[in-house]
Amino acid sequence: MKTQVGIVGGGPSGLLLSQLLDLKGIDNVILEKHTREYVLGRIRAGVLEHGFAALMREAEVGERMDKEGEIHDGFYIAHDGICERVDLKGLTGGNSVMIYGQTELTRDLYEAREKIGGKVIHNADDVALHDISTEKPYLTYKVGDEEKRVDCDYIIGADGFHGVSRQSIPKDAIRIFEQVYPFGWLGVLSHTKPVSPEILYAKHPRGFALCSLRSQAMSRYYIQVPLTDKVEDWSDEAFWQELKTRLPGDIADKVITGPSIEKSIAPLRSFVAEPMRFGNLFLAGDAAHIVPPTGARGLNSAASDIYYLYHAMLAHYKQGDDSGLEAYSQKALARVWKAQRFSWWMTNMLHEFPDNSEYEKHLQQTELEYLFSSQNALASAAENYVGLPF
Ligand code: FAD
Ligand code: DHB
Repeated sequence: MKTQVGIVGGGPSGLLLSQLLDLKGIDNVILEKHTREYVLGRIRAGVLEHGFAALMREAEVGERMDKEGEIHDGFYIAHDGICERVDLKGLTGGNSVMIYGQTELTRDLYEAREKIGGKVIHNADDVALHDISTEKPYLTYKVGDEEKRVDCDYIIGADGFHGVSRQSIPKDAIRIFEQVYPFGWLGVLSHTKPVSPEILYAKHPRGFALCSLRSQAMSRYYIQVPLTDKVEDWSDEAFWQELKTRLPGDIADKVITGPSIEKSIAPLRSFVAEPMRFGNLFLAGDAAHIVPPTGARGLNSAASDIYYLYHAMLAHYKQGDDSGLEAYSQKALARVWKAQRFSWWMTNMLHEFPDNSEYEKHLQQTELEYLFSSQNALASAAENYVGLPF
């Protein structure tokens, strides 16, 4: 098979790029290792920057998001028994975020790809990248015992953190920056009314907690847990009890509990691979960078990569202008590092670090006090949370 752009990975990054390119008549193929049901079974992000929401509309997949998603003009941080609000709209001159689950967004993208005849190949085994530093890169994959080949102009590595694309770059051509945190997040999805109509981040001596939502009837909660904990260690009852303990009393009293629909533990990691281009391979999304989820930046950073790549591809194919492709890695990384900084800052401010000294604990407390005592500090947090400009 021959195509213009070969995309490895059918997660949100790969699907969004594929959809945008197809709408402009740029031929592309996605190779996805798993089934569609598997991809849709992963409960992940829920907060979209306003710029990402706009990109979804541009990709003609914004209709259900605009109908069922919720615009949030603020979020809360609870600490020391009180709850303070970050007024996103007021602090940013009118910007906000969209609450719409990654699962729903991915479903919309799959349906849109199907509707316009997009080529998404599921169960593509043993995907391998070849000749990526040449003018004629190609992909191979297996369906059963049969090996298939896709020749393309460019390969997009959108296959997540554990994918094959980044691993295909020679070790001496890539630099890795990484920090692993000594805890994870235990997440629970439940069909219950959320305790807070807006997202609430909580700092507590027993550990961080997050009250989020997918709708006013569907809650998503997280608590910080040691890396040694297993999902089986946490009954629903134990989860609800611990969550309530970490919230201010008046809020804890209002938590409506119910059976968990999904329960999983995600380790926290900061990770950046530089550069994001090698030859004619371009990395995008989690394949190139990971943030701890505290600032809700992961999927949003993936979307900004796609924004840059899409415009670079358009300029190349429609105007013969390669400057966007040349600048891609540098442009994408400049924004990625800002998302890294913000996620690292939120994570450090709100979690319990088992090895923190008394001095570091004081600094952590001061960070919170400063945030809520300074309009400038609040404006900076809000500007980052709604998303820096592309
Ligand atoms: P992925 O979603 O990982 O998709 C990669 C795809 O590639 C997968 O479908 C995979 O099956 C496929 N693949 C892998 N290997 C291969 C291979 N060898 N061959 C072919 N295909 C392959 N982000 C936010 O912005 N806001 C949030 O609120 C937020 N909350 C989160 C909460 C949790 C608990 C977690 C875990 C993450 C959260 N994130 C959040 C991060 C967000 O989910 C990711 O950044 C996002 O999924 C990245 O999309 P992607 O398409 O780049 O990668
Ligand atoms: C959610 C996840 C996050 O990482 C976050 O910061 C806010 C919300 C969520 O899954 O809803």
